[in-house]
Amino acid sequence: MTTFKVRPARRGDATPITALMTELGFTADAATVTWIVSHPEMELLVAADALDKAIGIVCLAHRPQIRLGGRVASIEELMVTQAWRRKGVGRELLKRAVERARVLGVKKLEVQSLTAIAPEALAFFSACGFLPADTAVFRLA
Ligand SMILES: CC(C)(COP(=O)(O)OP(=O)(O)OC[C@H]1O[C@@H](n2cnc3c(N)ncnc32)[C@H](O)[C@@H]1OP(=O)(O)O)[C@@H](O)C(=O)NCCC(=O)NCCS
Repeated sequence: MTTFKVRPARRGDATPITALMTELGFTADAATVTWIVSHPEMELLVAADALDKAIGIVCLAHRPQIRLGGRVASIEELMVTQAWRRKGVGRELLKRAVERARVLGVKKLEVQSLTAIAPEALAFFSACGFLPADTAVFRLA
């Protein structure tokens, strides 16, 4: 069965979302997911299977930026559980996040990817209309 739907995350999704993140090797806690669900500048969407269990997520963060003279947004998380990959779930989640960004009047939408998964991420984002950006990321050592 490949039926899924995309909907806004609810507080009750916190534990399944945490499990999803853990499956992909990230540490995550339910309290932070709950925080994001009610955060005014974050949008967390869930792809849910026929039993309404989370099988993928996308998280969009947005805020005003001076040099842009408007709102900038970033995709903070985008992931699909292994068993559901290559069935169009990631593409649909990303499409819904882009639609939401448009409604919010976002002028620039970006996504960062870990270097380790960059080849797959590049293939996916290219297929979805994203191009590599000419930006470098610096992190406090
Ligand atoms: C990237 C990810 C979200 C894609 O989710 P998905 O549901 O498998 O993606 P889709 O089925 O919607 O794929 C859409 C298109 O992207 C491309 N694509 C997706 N995964 C790919 C891969 N591993 N290798 C090459 N191309 C890929 C294909 O063109 C695909 O279309 P097709 O299946 O008709 O050929 C998923 O692999 C994932 O969760 N990866 C780990 C986390 C991650 O890398 N997140 C993105 C960076 S934040």
